[in-house]
Amino acid sequence: MPLWLVFVLCLGLIVFLRKWPLLRLGCRLPGPWAFPLLGNAQMVGKLKPEFIFLVFTELRERFGSTYRLWLGPQLWVFLHTAEETRQALHDPTLRKAETFLQLEPLIGNGLLISHGAHWTRQRRLLTPAFQPQILRRFAHPVAMHADRLIARLKDLQGASIEVTDHLFSCLLDAIVDTSMGRQLDTQLMTEHSPIIRAFHLSSELLFKRMINPLLASDWIFQRTKLWRRLRVQLEIIHQLMETVIEERARELQDAEQNKSDKSRTLLDTLLLARFNDGSSLSRQEIRDEINTFVFAGVDTTTAAMSFVLYGLAKHQEIQDKLLNEIKEEQANDLDALNELPYLDAVIKEILRLYTIVPTTGRQTTCSTIIGGQRYCAGITLWINMYGLAHDAIYYAEPYDFKPERWLASGSSPPPPFSYIPFSGGPHVCIGRRYSLLLMKLLTVRIVQTFRLKLRPEDEAKDLILQAQMVLKSRNGIHVAFVERSSL
Ligand code: HEM
Repeated sequence: MPLWLVFVLCLGLIVFLRKWPLLRLGCRLPGPWAFPLLGNAQMVGKLKPEFIFLVFTELRERFGSTYRLWLGPQLWVFLHTAEETRQALHDPTLRKAETFLQLEPLIGNGLLISHGAHWTRQRRLLTPAFQPQILRRFAHPVAMHADRLIARLKDLQGASIEVTDHLFSCLLDAIVDTSMGRQLDTQLMTEHSPIIRAFHLSSELLFKRMINPLLASDWIFQRTKLWRRLRVQLEIIHQLMETVIEERARELQDAEQNKSDKSRTLLDTLLLARFNDGSSLSRQEIRDEINTFVFAGVDTTTAAMSFVLYGLAKHQEIQDKLLNEIKEEQANDLDALNELPYLDAVIKEILRLYTIVPTTGRQTTCSTIIGGQRYCAGITLWINMYGLAHDAIYYAEPYDFKPERWLASGSSPPPPFSYIPFSGGPHVCIGRRYSLLLMKLLTVRIVQTFRLKLRPEDEAKDLILQAQMVLKSRNGIHVAFVERSSL
């Protein structure tokens, strides 16, 4: 036998033996028939975003609550029960799924995808910046951006609009203002702002890569048109963020500013951080965290707010009930807003019905047991937050919009980890309180000023939901804002 053949056979045997635990598990777990080498990649690659939920649900019905897909040599396992989810989200040996690491060109090694000691250090550093007493200071700046949104909506004189762009602009301005102390003022621009376009486009292009198994390799991706388009948008974002960081760093050199803890933004926390060994964060690390906050915060809160407006416009009786509760409220008084049970229930129910981040993924790094099943290293575990929130085992009439289910007088609370719109465990969303504050402030101001209505052609229809980077409506969300004073 020629030497090269012996070498190839030995190499093949080594790869086979190393992959054996994965192959054995993949063969044992139920799942659809997989092509040799390709696995189910063809099926996943062809999946349209609006069919993802249908396919997951169908697979679950056919194969039970834990099933597998093969993406070439990669094994994906889908977990569907609240208990498996709890165990996976608390397992310290798991790290974020490799698919998410493809966000690196935009958010570097930011909190959303970092792990290990780096993640622990960053999370510890940033957590205090999201405490309620700090968030309370944001009420006035957020109210100013909300007022600008209200003024723009008034100008429409009751005409119906697609709400996403208006909300995105308001929330981007508010989040950049409160976290970096910088006024972007995109709401005041008459033209579409280049930074909004850059965030929209890069998120869209990154998602296109994430769902295409053929683009998983950096080497291949960096030779595509997609990458060239993405690079242009990333340059716009990185340049702006670098300018903001440098300007703020110069301002902080003012000794007075340095001492005052009161006016500190999240960016200041990053710029002023000093660790035990005397080191500070590099500019690149600061930029990564700032981009993470904008990326993780704006799109998600925009999507959540657009579903709030849709839900209220579609269910006039719920809108009336909410108006009754908030009529007399001062929209800037955060403590008062947190005492409004119906507002709280409406937002909770929207985040359940429209699970903004429908799934999240974790990668096994060594052998571990979840839900009684042993998983070897190298497996991607998908947690189906949308599936949990729509499981009839946990929620009666799961596809109905029923804020009452969250009130004390409603049904008994669902089991832990069946409702995790902000995920759970140590990686729970760091911005959850902040986004709830933004949503409550905006909802109260909007509902106090306008009656929300759907277009007549949308009244009898349901939204067609798409699982993109965040949950979206395929045809957008169209709402008319009719001033209450004109009714
Ligand atoms: C309705 C709005 C939001 C939703 C539904 C949401 C949802 C989530 C979810 C599900 C995760 C966990 C992902 C995982 O476990 O893989 C997460 C993580 C994260 N979110 Fe949010 N989020 C929202 C708003 C925000 C805001 C406003 C910010 C910041 C300003 C933010 C910053 C982050 C960060 C930095 C992480 C990573 C945390 C870590 O791994 O330590 N999010 N979010």
